[in-house]
Amino acid sequence: MVCLGNICRSPLAHGIFEHLSKDLSITVDSAGTANYHTGNAPDPRSIKTAAAKGINIANQKARQFIAADFDAFDYIFVMDQENLNNVLKLAETELGRNKVRLLLGSDEVEDPYYGGDHGFEIVFDKIEKACKNIIESWNQ
Ligand code: 4NP
Repeated sequence: MVCLGNICRSPLAHGIFEHLSKDLSITVDSAGTANYHTGNAPDPRSIKTAAAKGINIANQKARQFIAADFDAFDYIFVMDQENLNNVLKLAETELGRNKVRLLLGSDEVEDPYYGGDHGFEIVFDKIEKACKNIIESWNQ
């Protein structure tokens, strides 16, 4: 799960996907295309929004997306088109490029950083719906 800072959107996506896939043997992680927040915990608004739904993301630590992630993961879900472009710049193979897609398919999870709490709730709902759809598609 990849966004820009790895403190707002992708920590939510990481926590939600991990929660929904807890009966599957998969590894879920998140990263940011930028390194401004490396080592930081998620934004308090993301922590609060997830906690209200019973998901604890407080122990996550931000890290930057790296080229080795193309080998470590089968799917790379990004939150918006800018993340998509920046992740694709790091791909060295067609196999790597094919792992990358927008989490919402053709829509974006917009950056809630400069807004209020409500933006985080909207982000949570959009991400949760997308994660449910992905897991459902794997079960078919
Ligand atoms: P995120 O949100 O990409 O969802 O983690 C942002 C976090 C920090 C900044 C921008 C977006 N920032 O400019 O510091």
